[in-house]
Formats: sequence, structure tokens, C-alpha cells
Amino acid sequence: MTHQATNDHIDTLLHESRVIAPSAEFVARARVSREDYDRMYRRSLDDPDGFWGDVAGELHWMRRWDRVLDWQEPHAQWFVGGQTNVAHNALDRQVAAGRGDKTAILWEGEDGEVRTYSYSELLREVKRAANALTALGVEQGDRVTLYLPLIPEAAIAMLACARIGAVHSVVFGGFSVSALADRLGDAGSKLLITADAGQRRGGLVGLKANADEAARNTPSLERMLVVCRADCGVPMQPGRDLWWHEALAEAGDEHEAAPLDSEHPLFVLYTSGSTGKPKGVLHTTGGYMVGTYLTTQAVFDLRDDDVYWCTADVGWVTGHSYSVYGPLLNGATVLMYEGAPNHPDWGRFWRLVERHRVTILYTAPTAIRSFMRQGDAIPAGYDLGSLRLLGSVGEPINPEAWMWYSRVIGGGRCPVVDTWWQTETGAIMLTTLPGAHPGKPGSAGLPMFGVEPAIMTRDGEELGPDDGGLLVIKRPWPSMLRTVYGDDERYRKTYWGEIPHVYFAGDGARRDADGYVTVMGRVDDVLNVSGHRLGTMEIESALVAHPAVAEAAVVGRPDEVKGEGVVAFVLPQSGFTVNAGELRAHVSREIGALARPDAIIVADALPKTRSGKIMRRFLRQIAAGKSIEGDTSTLEDPGVLDRLAATPVA
Ligand code: WTA
Repeated sequence: MTHQATNDHIDTLLHESRVIAPSAEFVARARVSREDYDRMYRRSLDDPDGFWGDVAGELHWMRRWDRVLDWQEPHAQWFVGGQTNVAHNALDRQVAAGRGDKTAILWEGEDGEVRTYSYSELLREVKRAANALTALGVEQGDRVTLYLPLIPEAAIAMLACARIGAVHSVVFGGFSVSALADRLGDAGSKLLITADAGQRRGGLVGLKANADEAARNTPSLERMLVVCRADCGVPMQPGRDLWWHEALAEAGDEHEAAPLDSEHPLFVLYTSGSTGKPKGVLHTTGGYMVGTYLTTQAVFDLRDDDVYWCTADVGWVTGHSYSVYGPLLNGATVLMYEGAPNHPDWGRFWRLVERHRVTILYTAPTAIRSFMRQGDAIPAGYDLGSLRLLGSVGEPINPEAWMWYSRVIGGGRCPVVDTWWQTETGAIMLTTLPGAHPGKPGSAGLPMFGVEPAIMTRDGEELGPDDGGLLVIKRPWPSMLRTVYGDDERYRKTYWGEIPHVYFAGDGARRDADGYVTVMGRVDDVLNVSGHRLGTMEIESALVAHPAVAEAAVVGRPDEVKGEGVVAFVLPQSGFTVNAGELRAHVSREIGALARPDAIIVADALPKTRSGKIMRRFLRQIAAGKSIEGDTSTLEDPGVLDRLAATPVA
């Protein structure tokens, strides 16, 4: 593993031997016991058709499948011949089961406003939205891009698309105009659903203004539906733009969910890879539904009286699978919070937990580390006694943050589940089950049902206990991505072409003698900044698009709060001087604030091999402030390293 952050992480983890068992009380009530897990896991591998057929059978199908799995490597089809509808299963099915009056979405805006939707109310809104989309000419298979704040309308729009068989592509509201334009264009969306503005840290984020600019370069785009969130008087383009509330008011509230083939596309979600532009990860209907349904239930030990809060924005896969689809498929009450974790102060999350009596909290290590820095006194000021289970997702969690989360937030009584998965996997792949397994801080844990992981070398040789290597999955699973939208070749190469016959996750990991997998971080050129995936290439392209930059190389460096920080090495264009502040603002404009470099090093040369390849290994060492290790003899000009190390950081 060449990754510096990874090496540091291994060092810490090698000294980590704590094992934290769930309380007897939790174990006694757990939905899945140790014995259940062993039996179910075994069956999921030995008799996958029987296992997945039984899980799928708990959901509603308009037509039952003929075959559970058709696997023509690397393409899987699940529940072949079956027809179903995810929105019907998330809503109509819950209402039919007597949950009509139960709260489905409990939403709090950053300004403290609270809105709730019962399952019947949510169903009615989704039916109206489905009718409104149809009236706008959206048909089965059409792509619809969503660029929204975290408001109930985001979930409603997703479910309305699912209901009519339109393919949603959610673009995180923090992404810039050009990031939005790229994603709109790649998906070829006819319709964009946005809002006038979002609220963030007391200010407004002008989503509609960004959408207007992005739309200028997107020929496929015909219409724009605009949610009035801030009532801030945005211009509407006649013939193209329509207010969401007006469109819904005109739409009827009768609507039958479309029966869709199990393999009908459900959504595209763009994520960063190591090369080129972000790829559109494509998920389909039946398998994704079954995967998110089962994992939400088992991993979060979900029951009817839970108030479940996943803090992720719907712009990320965690928001898709565990703020919307998974919990609603299980009839849960979902809390959604629009704003920043520290607005107006660092007590905000804990006030939300206290106010809404949250029982299950699922958040990211970056957030946990930021809270930890603010000290124990802040959470101690709130009643967190309603919490019974905590989850972590998105990046490796360091053992100290795990322990703090368990002790200070969980009061020592809540199990912590550290869930490893990816945009591509659709659902949780590695975790402990809260009432079945003890937690080992820093280690994600055991495979979920049907998941067969292994640790391999680049040559496909399987490694034994405690050996660090590459994390792979040895067989298809229902919620796996089906392809990269519009680029199947990239799908084959990236995921099934690196090591023959296995899914290559892009992460380094090791497995201990108990089978617990510890994921150590990316082994490719993908950074994980505050739990958000960023390709170094994307940031480099943004940097060189600036007139003052001739060449750029971006690497990550360990960051105590964010996990990884972005460090950019830039070569100025002759005749230009580089202004670090301006360059940061430029990257924010090109991609979004999340990609803004933490440090910029203006260089006169980059460490390159004689064949012109940038040796990022050395840049990572310099970025981390370490001394240079490794063979520098292949460098064209070894002196460049000393000059870089001596260069001031802006
Ligand atoms: C990382 C987020 C360690 C990993 C659901 C993966 C994790 C990437 C964990 C996917 C975890 C996610 N422990 N690393 N529990 N969860 N990762 O697509 O590097 O945004 O490949 O999906 O995040 O990020 P993505």
C-alpha cells in the first residue's frame, strides 16, 4: 500500500485490540441474534436463490420473478421476469399494512421549522408529483435530475420518479454550476427539479441561479420544476419553468404505481473515480429494493417505534439508501434535518435528538470527530437517553472517535455499527449486526448476507488473516451497480477487470482471525474528504482550467477531522503568479466547496519519472510533512523533492 494515510491508519489499528460487546438487554431483544446471523449468512451463500427469494417475497411484486439471479459476468440480473415498484413498496404497502397515520418523514429545517408527513400524506404527495411529472411529458426511462436542499420534496421527487419509472439523478446541492452541467448533460435529463434556494448556516444558497446557468449548456433539458423553499423571488423562464407547488396543485391525487421490470433503472448517481470525469453509477429496481430493505432492517435492528435519523444528504448514496429507500421500505419514521451540524452552535445535533426522541443515529466519522473536538460538555447538556443504536459510514473511523461516540453519545449502552459500503454496492456490505456481534473499534466487521469478501493481491492471490491487501467481493449481490451509465466498458474495466472474476472495490483492507474486515482507505487516486469521494483528476482538471496554472498534481494528506485533506501542487503558467485564495475560490466554482484545496504549494517542477509520470507517492510524503522514503533514482530530477519540501504552503 503506497497510501500514506493508509500506513498511518494501519499503525494505529495494529495496536487496537478492544472488543466491545452489546449489552445483554440489547442482545435479548435483537432482531438478528448471533445464531440467526450464522444460519442466515450460511444459507445466503449456499442457497442464494432460496435466501433472496424469501427476502424478496416479503415485498410486493406485481409479477413474481422467474429466476432469482442471472449472472453473465460481469452483468447480473436479479429477480428476472419479476415486476415491482419501489415507491409502491415504500408507501402504498405501508398504508395497506395499517401505517397510514404513522409518521413517515419528520423534517426539521435549519431555521427550526418542523414539518411532518404521515405515510398517507407522503403517498398523496408522491401521487400528485407523479401525475405532475407525467403531465410534463416525463416517461418511463427518462432521466430527471434533482438539485435540491435536504427538504421533504427531495424524497417526494425521488419517489415520484420511481413511481412512474423515470430514472432520477440526484446532484448534491453543494455542487457547482459546472459539476451540475456535466451531470445533467451526461444523463441527458429532460427535466430538472430544483429549488429557489437552500438554507445553509443562516444564509441562502442560490440553487435556481446555478440551475439556470447549467441549463444554458444542456440541450436535452426541456423543463424545470422549482420548489419554493426560501421565497426569495427568483426569475422564472416562461415556457420552461414551473413552480412545484403549482404543478402539484393542478395534479390529481389518484395514481397507480407503474409495474416495472425488476431490472428497470431506478437511479443514476454520479461518483468520483480515479480517472476521468465522475461516473454515473446505475442501480435498478428489484435488487436495490431488496438489498436496502434487508440491510436497513438487520443492521439498524429496526422496529416500529423507532425514530430513525441518517444525517446524510440525499445527494449521496447514503441519503438514497438509508435516508429514503431503506427506512421507508421498512415503514420507519425518518428524521431529516436540512442544515449544518454546527448551526447555530455545536449542540444542534443533540437538540435534534432530544427534541425528536431519536432512537437510531447514523452519521459520518468526520462529524463525530468534529463533535469530539468540541468536548464532552456540549452533548452532556442534552438528554440523549432515547438513543439505542449508533451507526458510522463513509470513511474509516479511528478507534478513538469510535470510543467517544460509544461513550459520550451512546452513554455506553448503544451498540455502534461501522458500515462499509459504496455508491456502487448500493447497500451495506460489511458491518457488525448490533445484537449479534461485538464491535471492534476501527474495524467494520463481518459480511452482510450474500456478501463474500476476500483480501487479495493485485494478482488475485487470496491473502490470509491480518495480511493487508485489496478488498474484493467474490460474487454478485442484489443491490450491486449494473453498469456505468453510458459507458459499460468503464464498468467492466474498473470493477471486474482489475482482478479477474471478482469485484474490485478500490479499498485496501485486512481481515483478522475472527473474520472482521478492517477497511484502511482507497488504494487508487480517489480522496475521501469528510466522507465525500473526490477524484484527484477532477480537482487537477479544475486547477489547470485556471489561466495562471500550467500543471497541477493533487494528493491527500491525513487530516484529524476530515480524514483526508486536499493538497494541490501547482506549476504557474509563465508570466502569471498564482494567488492561492483565488485558486481555492476557482476550485469551489468549478466543482464545489467540498473540493477546495486545504493547501497549495506553488512549485517550479513536479517529481516525474523519465517517462513523464508524476510520482504521487513522493508528493503524498511531502504533503504530510514527512521525510522522503523510497527509491528516488527513477526521477528525472531528484532535486525537485528537496525544493518542494522547502516551498512554503499557502
Ligand atoms: C469509504 C459511501 C472505511 C471507502 C457509503 C469506500 C469506508 C468509499 C466506510 C465509498 C467504512 C465507506 N469504513 N471506509 N465504514 N464506508 N468508506 O461511494 O473508501 O461515497 O470505497 O459511499 O468510502 O464512498 P461512497
